[in-house]
Amino acid sequence: MKPFFIKLLLTLIFIISLSVQAVEVDKATGLIKVEGWETVRNNCIACHSTKLITQNHGTRNRWLAMIEWMQATQGLQRFDAEKQETILSYLSENFGPKKDARRSSLDPQLMPKNPYKKTLQPQL
Ligand code: HEC
Repeated sequence: MKPFFIKLLLTLIFIISLSVQAVEVDKATGLIKVEGWETVRNNCIACHSTKLITQNHGTRNRWLAMIEWMQATQGLQRFDAEKQETILSYLSENFGPKKDARRSSLDPQLMPKNPYKKTLQPQL
């Protein structure tokens, strides 16, 4: 019986080590090395640390909104459709929404009417 359990244990450790190795992270950037990571590295590190990217999580739409915000206000270049697709897929698949994170704010039009709006935010 004993050798059997030792073999089973070793096999389990081997399988677990394989799956751990499967997620390889680039040491310099912290980006997960799967398809598209080099495109993200080549286009997203000129202005800020990749920590800003790896600490963020979101749906495809949220990533798109962040990219569009940087393009509109921070001088990020526009990407051709193929490159944009690669970047968005990479980000939403590897840095997708976290289950335990705070949900994003409701769309203003979905919010209930604010009875204090007049006193707190005077109409200009
Ligand atoms: C042209 C410069 C520039 C490039 C290139 C750039 N960004 Fe940014 N990005 C910014 C600036 C500026 C900020 C705001 C930094 C801050 O708040 O300190 C920012 C913020 C962010 C944030 C944080 C947004 C938030 O809501 O907190 C994320 C995530 C991000 N960038 C991802 C990316 C990704 C992904 C790429 C590549 C597609 C990219 N950035 C390329 C300028 C850039």
